[in-house]
Amino acid sequence: MSPLVIPLPGNETFAKALADARGCEMGVLEMRSFPDEETYLRFVSQVKARSLALVCTLAHPDPKFLPLWFAARTARALGASKVGLVAPYLAYMRQDKSFHPGEAVTSRHFAKLISEGLDWLVTVDPHLHRYRALSDLYTIPAQSLHAGRAIADWIAGNISNPFIVGPDVESEQWVSEVAKDCGAPYTVMLKTRRGDRDVSVHPRDLHALPGHSPVIVDDIVSSGETMLGAIAALAAHTDASPICIAVHAVLADDVAARIAATGAKLVSTDTIPHPSNAITTVPPIADAVAAFA
Ligand code: R5P
Repeated sequence: MSPLVIPLPGNETFAKALADARGCEMGVLEMRSFPDEETYLRFVSQVKARSLALVCTLAHPDPKFLPLWFAARTARALGASKVGLVAPYLAYMRQDKSFHPGEAVTSRHFAKLISEGLDWLVTVDPHLHRYRALSDLYTIPAQSLHAGRAIADWIAGNISNPFIVGPDVESEQWVSEVAKDCGAPYTVMLKTRRGDRDVSVHPRDLHALPGHSPVIVDDIVSSGETMLGAIAALAAHTDASPICIAVHAVLADDVAARIAATGAKLVSTDTIPHPSNAITTVPPIADAVAAFA
């Protein structure tokens, strides 16, 4: 039997697209806050002996995690046969080492919690920089999908003569793949990060840029300092305003407005709901869920 797809609040649109892609039934989870802001939660749908796919993207994760944990534990208590998590954006992947004495390596603690509460995990382009794979820290079956192909298709269908730019050397892993898939030249810039919002980006290898449309591609736009640094670095070399593509539009504070103010256009995948979403990750996620559930 196909899984029951159940959205946590805010994930209804993505969950519906996912369910429709595979002809799955949508389940209903009632959730509200008590006056003291504790969470009330009830499965309206019958979950006994069903395989569930809970859908909960995890940008701004702290208020989302406890309701997700309660939902997963309750589903198991009600007799669900399997409880999996579709988290198109997976949080707590970036603090992957103790950079200073006493720091929490939150990626490991978070992975332990998710691995205890759920049976499987599907996500898109998690921040795997120092970890080789999700299996380095998750103990449940965990599939990491790539948005690169969908991004390349969007570029090929919407941008003429693209020139793909990665804002830092770490981005080369997906920028090179996107460039190859849409037959465009690419470069990666050099980034120095001195603090959360203290970033500088230096251009290099822009000899192929003239006559092309610059397209900056990064996995995450959070504080936006990386993307804004890349926009500024390009501005010294071209009059063309770039297209800025983010797999995950985390977008803290007023970043989207700051990017728009430069004249650049922000485009993102649908792993985090935002008006800039133009590229869907539903098809590969639907295939992965069908294999797990
Ligand atoms: C860095 O390793 C990532 O690929 C992104 O460039 C980074 O997470 C973006 O963060 P922010 O928007 O805060 O500069």
